[in-house]
Amino acid sequence: MAEPAHDPRHSPVMRDEVLGMAAPRDGEIFVDGTFGAGGYSRALLETANCIVYAIDRDPSVGATASAMAAEFSGRFHLLPGCFSQMDNLVSEQGVKSVDGVVLDIGVSSMQFDDAERGFSFQNDGPLSMRMSDHGLSAEDVVNDYEEGDLADIIYQYGEEKKSRRIAKAIVLARSQGRITRTAALASIIEKAVGYKRYIRGKKQIHPATRTFQALRIYVNDELSELARGLAAAENILAPGGRLCVVSFHSLEDRIIKKFFKQRSGEQSRGSRHLPQALDNTGLGEDAPSFKMIAKGAVKPSKKEIEQNIRSRSAKLRGASRTDAAPSPRPKTGDEK
Ligand SMILES: C[S@@+](CC[C@H](N)C(=O)[O-])C[C@H]1O[C@@H](n2cnc3c(N)ncnc32)[C@H](O)[C@@H]1O
Repeated sequence: MAEPAHDPRHSPVMRDEVLGMAAPRDGEIFVDGTFGAGGYSRALLETANCIVYAIDRDPSVGATASAMAAEFSGRFHLLPGCFSQMDNLVSEQGVKSVDGVVLDIGVSSMQFDDAERGFSFQNDGPLSMRMSDHGLSAEDVVNDYEEGDLADIIYQYGEEKKSRRIAKAIVLARSQGRITRTAALASIIEKAVGYKRYIRGKKQIHPATRTFQALRIYVNDELSELARGLAAAENILAPGGRLCVVSFHSLEDRIIKKFFKQRSGEQSRGSRHLPQALDNTGLGEDAPSFKMIAKGAVKPSKKEIEQNIRSRSAKLRGASRTDAAPSPRPKTGDEK
Protein backbone atom coordinates (compact mmCIF):
# COMPACT_ATOMS: atom_id res chain seq x y z
CA MET A 1 0.00 0.00 0.00
CA ALA A 2 1.26 3.49 -0.82
CA GLU A 3 2.13 5.67 2.19
CA PRO A 4 0.01 8.81 1.95
CA ALA A 5 1.80 12.05 2.61
CA HIS A 6 0.51 14.20 5.45
CA ASP A 7 -1.76 16.88 4.05
CA PRO A 8 -1.65 19.90 6.37
CA ARG A 9 -4.72 21.37 4.64
CA HIS A 10 -6.83 18.36 5.54
CA SER A 11 -9.89 19.50 7.40
CA PRO A 12 -12.05 16.66 8.72
CA VAL A 13 -15.82 16.67 8.42
CA MET A 14 -17.56 18.82 11.10
CA ARG A 15 -14.25 19.58 12.81
CA ASP A 16 -15.57 22.52 14.84
CA GLU A 17 -18.77 20.78 15.88
CA VAL A 18 -16.85 17.66 17.01
CA LEU A 19 -14.38 19.83 18.88
CA GLY A 20 -17.25 21.71 20.54
CA MET A 21 -18.75 18.44 21.81
CA ALA A 22 -15.47 16.77 22.75
CA ALA A 23 -14.48 19.98 24.62
CA PRO A 24 -10.85 18.98 25.31
CA ARG A 25 -9.14 20.40 28.40
CA ASP A 26 -5.53 20.33 29.53
CA GLY A 27 -4.47 17.03 31.07
CA GLU A 28 -7.34 15.01 29.55
CA ILE A 29 -6.98 11.76 27.58
CA PHE A 30 -8.80 11.11 24.28
CA VAL A 31 -9.27 8.23 21.88
CA ASP A 32 -9.55 9.04 18.18
CA GLY A 33 -10.90 5.68 17.04
CA THR A 34 -10.74 6.49 13.31
CA PHE A 35 -7.42 8.27 12.84
CA GLY A 36 -7.35 8.42 9.00
CA ALA A 37 -5.44 11.58 8.03
CA GLY A 38 -5.48 12.66 11.68
CA GLY A 39 -7.84 15.63 11.41
CA TYR A 40 -9.63 15.08 14.73
CA SER A 41 -6.42 14.06 16.56
CA ARG A 42 -4.74 17.26 15.40
CA ALA A 43 -7.73 19.41 16.36
CA LEU A 44 -7.76 17.93 19.88
CA LEU A 45 -3.99 18.25 20.34
CA GLU A 46 -3.94 21.84 19.09
CA THR A 47 -6.86 22.90 21.29
CA ALA A 48 -5.66 21.62 24.65
CA ASN A 49 -2.57 20.15 26.25
CA CYS A 50 -4.21 16.71 26.14
CA ILE A 51 -3.08 13.20 25.18
CA VAL A 52 -4.52 11.35 22.17
CA TYR A 53 -4.49 7.60 21.58
CA ALA A 54 -5.35 7.17 17.90
CA ILE A 55 -6.62 3.89 16.46
CA ASP A 56 -6.81 2.80 12.83
CA ARG A 57 -7.05 -0.61 11.21
CA ASP A 58 -5.31 0.67 8.05
CA PRO A 59 -1.52 0.30 8.25
CA SER A 60 -1.07 2.99 5.58
CA VAL A 61 -1.77 5.71 8.19
CA GLY A 62 1.67 4.97 9.67
CA ALA A 63 3.56 7.84 8.01
CA THR A 64 1.05 10.49 9.07
CA ALA A 65 0.96 9.08 12.60
CA SER A 66 4.77 9.06 12.91
CA ALA A 67 4.92 12.70 11.82
CA MET A 68 2.26 13.57 14.39
CA ALA A 69 4.04 11.65 17.16
CA ALA A 70 7.15 13.70 16.42
CA GLU A 71 5.23 16.99 16.30
CA PHE A 72 3.27 16.38 19.53
CA SER A 73 6.02 14.60 21.41
CA GLY A 74 4.68 12.40 24.24
CA ARG A 75 1.06 13.46 23.60
CA PHE A 76 0.18 11.35 20.56
CA HIS A 77 0.25 7.56 20.26
CA LEU A 78 -0.97 5.36 17.41
CA LEU A 79 -2.51 2.04 18.42
CA PRO A 80 -2.97 -0.07 15.26
CA GLY A 81 -6.15 -2.15 15.35
CA CYS A 82 -9.93 -1.95 15.37
CA PHE A 83 -11.88 0.55 17.44
CA SER A 84 -14.14 -2.24 18.72
CA GLN A 85 -11.08 -3.14 20.81
CA MET A 86 -10.40 0.40 22.04
CA ASP A 87 -10.89 -0.42 25.71
CA ASN A 88 -8.38 -3.30 25.51
CA LEU A 89 -5.92 -1.35 23.34
CA VAL A 90 -5.94 1.61 25.71
CA SER A 91 -5.76 -0.43 28.89
CA GLU A 92 -2.72 -2.25 27.47
CA GLN A 93 -1.06 1.19 27.66
CA GLY A 94 -1.86 1.32 31.38
CA VAL A 95 -4.74 3.77 30.88
CA LYS A 96 -7.83 2.87 32.95
CA SER A 97 -10.28 5.43 31.57
CA VAL A 98 -10.45 8.30 29.09
CA ASP A 99 -12.19 11.68 28.92
CA GLY A 100 -13.37 11.53 25.33
CA VAL A 101 -13.80 9.27 22.30
CA VAL A 102 -14.27 10.58 18.76
CA LEU A 103 -15.34 8.40 15.84
CA ASP A 104 -15.67 9.31 12.17
CA ILE A 105 -17.23 6.22 10.63
CA GLY A 106 -16.52 4.85 7.14
CA VAL A 107 -13.70 5.00 4.61
CA SER A 108 -11.39 7.97 4.32
CA SER A 109 -11.08 10.05 1.16
CA MET A 110 -7.53 8.74 0.86
CA GLN A 111 -8.76 5.15 0.85
CA PHE A 112 -11.62 5.94 -1.51
CA ASP A 113 -9.54 7.92 -3.99
CA ASP A 114 -6.71 5.35 -4.22
CA ALA A 115 -7.79 3.06 -7.08
CA GLU A 116 -5.52 0.29 -5.78
CA ARG A 117 -7.70 -0.05 -2.67
CA GLY A 118 -10.67 -1.06 -4.85
CA PHE A 119 -13.39 1.04 -3.19
CA SER A 120 -14.36 2.98 -6.29
CA PHE A 121 -15.89 1.87 -9.56
CA GLN A 122 -14.98 5.16 -11.19
CA ASN A 123 -11.24 4.47 -10.89
CA ASP A 124 -10.56 0.92 -12.00
CA GLY A 125 -8.64 -1.17 -9.49
CA PRO A 126 -8.38 -4.60 -7.90
CA LEU A 127 -11.58 -5.72 -6.16
CA SER A 128 -10.23 -5.45 -2.62
CA MET A 129 -12.25 -2.95 -0.47
CA ARG A 130 -10.35 -3.94 2.67
CA MET A 131 -9.56 -1.12 5.09
CA SER A 132 -6.82 -3.27 6.59
CA ASP A 133 -4.22 -5.23 4.65
CA HIS A 134 -5.57 -8.69 5.40
CA GLY A 135 -8.74 -10.78 5.60
CA LEU A 136 -11.69 -11.28 3.31
CA SER A 137 -11.79 -9.17 0.12
CA ALA A 138 -14.67 -8.10 -2.13
CA GLU A 139 -13.16 -10.37 -4.79
CA ASP A 140 -13.66 -13.38 -2.47
CA VAL A 141 -17.28 -12.45 -1.81
CA VAL A 142 -18.16 -11.73 -5.45
CA ASN A 143 -16.57 -14.92 -6.78
CA ASP A 144 -17.07 -17.47 -4.02
CA TYR A 145 -20.42 -16.75 -2.36
CA GLU A 146 -23.69 -18.48 -3.27
CA GLU A 147 -26.10 -16.39 -5.34
CA GLY A 148 -28.65 -16.18 -2.48
CA ASP A 149 -26.05 -15.00 0.03
CA LEU A 150 -24.72 -12.41 -2.41
CA ALA A 151 -28.24 -11.09 -2.98
CA ASP A 152 -28.85 -10.89 0.78
CA ILE A 153 -25.62 -8.92 1.35
CA ILE A 154 -26.45 -6.49 -1.46
CA TYR A 155 -29.98 -6.04 -0.14
CA GLN A 156 -29.12 -5.74 3.54
CA TYR A 157 -26.03 -3.53 3.40
CA GLY A 158 -26.76 -1.67 0.17
CA GLU A 159 -30.54 -1.35 0.58
CA GLU A 160 -30.61 -2.30 -3.11
CA LYS A 161 -34.05 -3.33 -4.35
CA LYS A 162 -32.60 -5.01 -7.45
CA SER A 163 -30.27 -7.21 -5.40
CA ARG A 164 -31.54 -10.52 -6.80
CA ARG A 165 -31.09 -9.41 -10.40
CA ILE A 166 -27.59 -8.12 -9.66
CA ALA A 167 -26.54 -11.29 -7.82
CA LYS A 168 -27.80 -13.40 -10.74
CA ALA A 169 -25.80 -11.33 -13.25
CA ILE A 170 -22.65 -11.63 -11.11
CA VAL A 171 -23.00 -15.41 -10.89
CA LEU A 172 -23.52 -15.66 -14.66
CA ALA A 173 -20.52 -13.41 -15.38
CA ARG A 174 -18.17 -15.26 -13.05
CA SER A 175 -18.93 -18.55 -14.81
CA GLN A 176 -16.93 -17.04 -17.72
CA GLY A 177 -13.95 -16.17 -15.51
CA ARG A 178 -13.09 -14.67 -12.11
CA ILE A 179 -14.20 -11.05 -11.55
CA THR A 180 -11.12 -9.24 -10.26
CA ARG A 181 -11.53 -5.52 -11.12
CA THR A 182 -13.88 -2.81 -9.88
CA ALA A 183 -14.67 -1.57 -13.40
CA ALA A 184 -15.60 -5.10 -14.52
CA LEU A 185 -18.03 -5.49 -11.61
CA ALA A 186 -19.56 -2.06 -12.24
CA SER A 187 -20.09 -2.92 -15.89
CA ILE A 188 -21.78 -6.26 -15.03
CA ILE A 189 -24.18 -4.40 -12.72
CA GLU A 190 -24.81 -1.63 -15.26
CA LYS A 191 -25.69 -4.20 -17.94
CA ALA A 192 -27.94 -6.12 -15.54
CA VAL A 193 -30.09 -3.23 -14.36
CA GLY A 194 -29.50 -0.49 -16.95
CA TYR A 195 -28.33 3.06 -16.32
CA LYS A 196 -30.21 6.23 -17.15
CA ARG A 197 -27.85 9.07 -16.25
CA TYR A 198 -30.70 11.55 -16.01
CA ILE A 199 -34.38 11.08 -15.24
CA ARG A 200 -36.50 14.21 -15.83
CA GLY A 201 -33.30 16.27 -15.75
CA LYS A 202 -32.19 14.87 -12.39
CA LYS A 203 -28.80 13.13 -12.24
CA GLN A 204 -29.08 9.52 -11.07
CA ILE A 205 -26.53 7.63 -8.99
CA HIS A 206 -24.61 4.91 -10.79
CA PRO A 207 -26.41 1.54 -10.48
CA ALA A 208 -23.28 -0.02 -8.89
CA THR A 209 -23.21 2.49 -6.00
CA ARG A 210 -25.34 0.49 -3.58
CA THR A 211 -23.70 -2.84 -4.38
CA PHE A 212 -20.24 -1.33 -3.79
CA GLN A 213 -21.43 0.12 -0.48
CA ALA A 214 -22.82 -3.29 0.53
CA LEU A 215 -19.62 -5.16 -0.30
CA ARG A 216 -17.49 -2.61 1.55
CA ILE A 217 -19.64 -2.78 4.68
CA TYR A 218 -19.68 -6.58 4.60
CA VAL A 219 -15.97 -7.04 3.90
CA ASN A 220 -14.99 -4.74 6.78
CA ASP A 221 -17.76 -5.96 9.11
CA GLU A 222 -18.53 -2.27 9.58
CA LEU A 223 -21.87 -2.43 11.32
CA SER A 224 -20.86 -4.86 14.04
CA GLU A 225 -17.57 -2.95 14.44
CA LEU A 226 -19.68 0.14 15.07
CA ALA A 227 -21.98 -1.54 17.61
CA ARG A 228 -19.01 -3.04 19.46
CA GLY A 229 -17.06 0.22 19.23
CA LEU A 230 -19.85 2.17 20.92
CA ALA A 231 -19.98 -0.40 23.73
CA ALA A 232 -16.18 -0.30 24.08
CA ALA A 233 -16.36 3.49 24.38
CA GLU A 234 -19.04 3.14 27.07
CA ASN A 235 -16.65 0.83 28.92
CA ILE A 236 -13.59 3.06 28.80
CA LEU A 237 -15.12 6.53 29.28
CA ALA A 238 -14.82 8.11 32.74
CA PRO A 239 -17.91 9.78 34.24
CA GLY A 240 -18.29 13.08 32.39
CA GLY A 241 -16.36 11.70 29.38
CA ARG A 242 -17.71 12.65 25.94
CA LEU A 243 -18.53 10.27 23.06
CA CYS A 244 -18.85 12.00 19.64
CA VAL A 245 -19.75 9.98 16.56
CA VAL A 246 -19.98 11.16 12.94
CA SER A 247 -21.65 8.83 10.44
CA PHE A 248 -22.56 9.07 6.78
CA HIS A 249 -25.47 6.80 6.04
CA SER A 250 -28.69 5.62 7.57
CA LEU A 251 -27.55 2.09 8.39
CA GLU A 252 -24.81 3.51 10.61
CA ASP A 253 -26.89 6.33 12.05
CA ARG A 254 -29.67 3.91 13.02
CA ILE A 255 -27.22 1.95 15.20
CA ILE A 256 -25.82 5.10 16.82
CA LYS A 257 -29.25 6.61 17.42
CA LYS A 258 -30.56 3.39 18.99
CA PHE A 259 -27.45 3.05 21.18
CA PHE A 260 -27.83 6.57 22.54
CA LYS A 261 -31.60 6.21 22.98
CA GLN A 262 -31.14 3.08 25.04
CA ARG A 263 -28.17 4.28 27.01
CA SER A 264 -29.64 7.69 27.80
CA GLY A 265 -32.81 6.08 29.15
CA GLU A 266 -35.09 7.29 26.35
CA GLN A 267 -35.73 3.66 25.38
CA SER A 268 -35.51 0.48 27.46
CA ARG A 269 -32.15 -1.32 27.29
CA GLY A 270 -33.83 -4.72 27.29
CA SER A 271 -35.75 -6.85 29.71
CA ARG A 272 -37.51 -5.01 32.48
CA HIS A 273 -38.26 -8.35 34.10
CA LEU A 274 -34.80 -9.11 35.48
CA PRO A 275 -34.96 -9.92 39.18
CA GLN A 276 -33.62 -7.02 41.25
CA ALA A 277 -30.87 -9.34 42.58
CA LEU A 278 -29.36 -9.66 39.08
CA ASP A 279 -28.97 -5.91 38.74
CA ASN A 280 -25.69 -5.27 40.53
CA THR A 281 -25.21 -1.66 39.47
CA GLY A 282 -27.29 -0.41 42.37
CA LEU A 283 -28.79 2.10 39.96
CA GLY A 284 -31.48 -0.07 38.43
CA GLU A 285 -31.21 -1.90 35.11
CA ASP A 286 -32.11 1.16 33.05
CA ALA A 287 -29.88 3.64 34.87
CA PRO A 288 -28.70 5.81 31.97
CA SER A 289 -25.00 5.43 31.20
CA PHE A 290 -25.07 8.50 28.92
CA LYS A 291 -26.62 11.96 28.92
CA MET A 292 -27.15 13.49 25.48
CA ILE A 293 -25.07 16.59 24.72
CA ALA A 294 -27.23 17.63 21.78
CA LYS A 295 -30.80 16.56 21.17
CA GLY A 296 -30.85 14.74 17.83
CA ALA A 297 -28.19 14.82 15.15
CA VAL A 298 -26.04 17.85 14.34
CA LYS A 299 -25.51 18.43 10.60
CA PRO A 300 -22.74 20.24 8.74
CA SER A 301 -23.19 23.91 7.95
CA LYS A 302 -24.23 25.07 4.46
CA LYS A 303 -20.76 26.56 4.08
CA GLU A 304 -19.04 23.25 4.85
CA ILE A 305 -21.27 21.39 2.38
CA GLU A 306 -20.40 23.96 -0.30
CA GLN A 307 -16.69 23.51 0.42
CA ASN A 308 -16.79 19.73 0.76
CA ILE A 309 -19.66 17.98 -0.98
CA ARG A 310 -18.78 14.67 0.73
CA SER A 311 -19.86 16.16 4.05
CA ARG A 312 -23.48 16.57 2.91
CA SER A 313 -24.76 13.34 4.47
CA ALA A 314 -22.76 13.59 7.73
CA LYS A 315 -24.54 13.44 11.08
CA LEU A 316 -22.92 14.02 14.45
CA ARG A 317 -24.35 12.62 17.67
CA GLY A 318 -22.76 13.03 21.07
CA ALA A 319 -23.35 12.24 24.71
CA SER A 320 -21.47 12.40 27.98
CA ARG A 321 -20.92 9.43 30.26
CA THR A 322 -22.73 9.20 33.57
CA ASP A 323 -21.43 7.13 36.47
CA ALA A 324 -23.86 4.22 35.82
CA ALA A 325 -22.35 0.83 35.01
CA PRO A 326 -22.02 0.00 31.30
CA SER A 327 -24.45 -2.44 29.67
CA PRO A 328 -23.15 -5.93 28.84
CA ARG A 329 -20.99 -5.94 25.67
CA PRO A 330 -22.59 -7.13 22.41
CA LYS A 331 -21.44 -10.58 21.28
CA THR A 332 -18.03 -10.56 19.58
CA GLY A 333 -19.13 -13.44 17.32
CA ASP A 334 -18.31 -12.94 13.67
CA GLU A 335 -21.43 -12.31 11.63
CA LYS A 336 -19.81 -13.67 8.50
C1 LIG B 1 -13.60 8.66 7.63
S1 LIG B 1 -11.96 8.20 7.98
C2 LIG B 1 -11.50 9.19 9.33
C3 LIG B 1 -10.94 10.51 8.94
C4 LIG B 1 -10.37 11.26 10.10
N1 LIG B 1 -11.38 11.73 11.02
C5 LIG B 1 -9.53 12.41 9.61
O1 LIG B 1 -9.70 13.51 10.10
O2 LIG B 1 -8.72 12.21 8.72
C6 LIG B 1 -12.14 6.66 8.74
C7 LIG B 1 -10.84 5.98 9.13
O3 LIG B 1 -11.16 5.03 10.13
C8 LIG B 1 -10.59 3.80 9.83
N2 LIG B 1 -11.53 2.81 10.32
C9 LIG B 1 -12.77 2.54 9.87
N3 LIG B 1 -13.34 1.58 10.60
C10 LIG B 1 -12.44 1.24 11.56
C11 LIG B 1 -12.46 0.31 12.64
N4 LIG B 1 -13.50 -0.46 12.88
N5 LIG B 1 -11.37 0.26 13.45
C12 LIG B 1 -10.30 1.05 13.23
N6 LIG B 1 -10.22 1.94 12.21
C13 LIG B 1 -11.28 2.03 11.39
C14 LIG B 1 -10.40 3.76 8.35
O4 LIG B 1 -9.32 2.93 8.02
C15 LIG B 1 -10.14 5.23 8.03
O5 LIG B 1 -8.77 5.51 8.03
